[in-house]
Amino acid sequence: MTDRDTSIGTPDHGTGEIFAEVLERFISRRSVLKAGAALGLASVGASLLETPPAADAATLDFVAIPADPADADRLVVPPGYRAQVLIRWGDPILPGAEPWNPERQSAAQQARQFGYNNDFVGYLPLPYGSNSSTRGLLVVNHEYTNAELMFANYSLERQTREQVDITMAAHGISVVEVVRQPDGSWRYRPDSPYNRRITATTPIQLTGPAAGHPWLVTSADPTGSWVLGTLNNCAGGKTPWGTVLSGEENFNGYFDNAGRLPADDLRRASLQRYGIPTGLGRYQWSKYYDRFDVSKEPNESFRFGWVVEIDPYDPTATPKKRTALGRAKHEAATFALNPDGRLAVYMGDDERFDYIYKFVPSGRFNPNNRAANLGLLDEGTLYVARFNDDGTGRWIPLVWGQNGLTPENGFGSQADVLIHTRIAADLVGATKMDRPEDMEWNPVNGKVYAVMTNNEQRGGSGRPGPDAANPRPNNRTGHILEISEASDDVTATTFTWNVFILGGLPNDPSSYYAGFPKEQITSALAAPDNIVFDSQGTMWIATDGATGPLGINDGVYAVPVAGSERGYLRQFLSSPAGSEVCGPEFTPDNTTFFVAIQHPGEEGTVEKPVSTWPDGLPYPRPAVVAITAEHGGRIGQGSSSALFTGQPGSGLAELFRRLFR
Ligand code: FEO
Ligand code: CA
Ligand code: CA
Repeated sequence: MTDRDTSIGTPDHGTGEIFAEVLERFISRRSVLKAGAALGLASVGASLLETPPAADAATLDFVAIPADPADADRLVVPPGYRAQVLIRWGDPILPGAEPWNPERQSAAQQARQFGYNNDFVGYLPLPYGSNSSTRGLLVVNHEYTNAELMFANYSLERQTREQVDITMAAHGISVVEVVRQPDGSWRYRPDSPYNRRITATTPIQLTGPAAGHPWLVTSADPTGSWVLGTLNNCAGGKTPWGTVLSGEENFNGYFDNAGRLPADDLRRASLQRYGIPTGLGRYQWSKYYDRFDVSKEPNESFRFGWVVEIDPYDPTATPKKRTALGRAKHEAATFALNPDGRLAVYMGDDERFDYIYKFVPSGRFNPNNRAANLGLLDEGTLYVARFNDDGTGRWIPLVWGQNGLTPENGFGSQADVLIHTRIAADLVGATKMDRPEDMEWNPVNGKVYAVMTNNEQRGGSGRPGPDAANPRPNNRTGHILEISEASDDVTATTFTWNVFILGGLPNDPSSYYAGFPKEQITSALAAPDNIVFDSQGTMWIATDGATGPLGINDGVYAVPVAGSERGYLRQFLSSPAGSEVCGPEFTPDNTTFFVAIQHPGEEGTVEKPVSTWPDGLPYPRPAVVAITAEHGGRIGQGSSSALFTGQPGSGLAELFRRLFR
């Protein structure tokens, strides 16, 4: 979601180094800078900017689109591409579901319909084990709800029980079968036996070391191992064994009244570190459900903030919250795989000055025995990242008994370390990042990319200053790091890293596009959120928050990571007013590109809509869009059009003039 509530209750993280000190350290190393002069003040860490480009990768040849101004209520793709709304909020996917009718909503209907605010999109081929690009399952997260866009005349103060129940049913995850038609379009199958809804009330099992811990016990669950629902499912990842991981992100906003706990209650410090509201939060479900009132059910919030594993190929399988992966505001959880079957799961904790994590299972992936893999995420080692200013880094184990994670510091067990992961990471000296969002392993070059969406508090009063891995004060446009695990072993405990992109307008001295000549770039990246790699290793970036710094709608951008066009950013999609773009996902053959358009019309209401996408109604509808090429081939390639080189009067050129006149 947009970051308006990510700072609720956020404690101070200390002042850190001031920018001038960081700069001072780097000035002595100026001789090694390759891109330094042009970068000006932002050249802290500039020695970490360059890596030699590898051999030429396949060239993109779509016509980059101009940026759309922030009030444009349309979805744009390049000439030669088709964008089709595949499934929208409210579309029926389970037996008994009626067609969507915004005037006649009910919780029972919503629980059978596609949920709200689609975020992660995973395409899993059907049948299992195939590589089909014409039939598969879409697993889609429904991160949160905009009740003011779901109900006419809505007011948080006057919300009804039925409205709360509808929004709870609109959360969670959908599984829906999709099939490519002979004409090249896509349809979802409303009658598929695979279709499934998981909501804020679906029973979910807690597994792994923290399951059953006394702080996970509630009046409804004396075992501490069964939770109703999953909340704020942001991004996620697909496992090699065909399950999906879904990250519970800003779960704090669903809870109220932590401030009413007694002053000496031991839970208060952890509740504060995770931003649980002391008063009323964003959703106020506690008006009708006591479990969301911390003063009445003090442990319920500890049962959220986990990574959930679901098996979309088995609609009866119980979803599992895998506590071994730690508790944070999980943006996503994504996989990397060694040839020997050992694995890593990468995870960002999306909060200003929070951390990057990696989980390494003890076991190995067994490609010949799916069932043997289903418990892999319950045992292993959780690490947090330390980025050194010299371009090296270390994965610090968050293991009970090590690195001060001991009873003297309040950790009585590994379960304590996992429930209070952020506090454990604070203690071991992890690097405070600029809102870590997606992390993705690129199988083509073996590197891991970590996306920092933005952090306008970096270097602010009383806040940590820039460091090499977060090199800009007031980082409004975000950046992307490129990480090389030691010996390309995804389970390694050391790595090297460099900056890949510093977002912003190309003529902003502090922006950086992997050293590609910026005068040739006619697109601009801000607030990168989720990324995906096509099968040739090109990065595709979806953004969330370009409107603030650049005044443009969010979009999708493609950028090669290798070859002579490494860093050459080109805009592929522009999203409707008020929305962000999520999900980016390809079919295995790369001929279809799925995106999730989330919260179209945010900041508006049904009475005062700022978007009517996609139906022209005052109820904008989050939707998954399928994009295909008219030539039928791979996305981004095979176009007959010449390469776009920028043109006077394009949206971006006008933007340059407005911002830099
Ligand atoms: Fe839900 Fe970090 O975006
Ligand atoms: Ca987002
Ligand atoms: Ca996100």
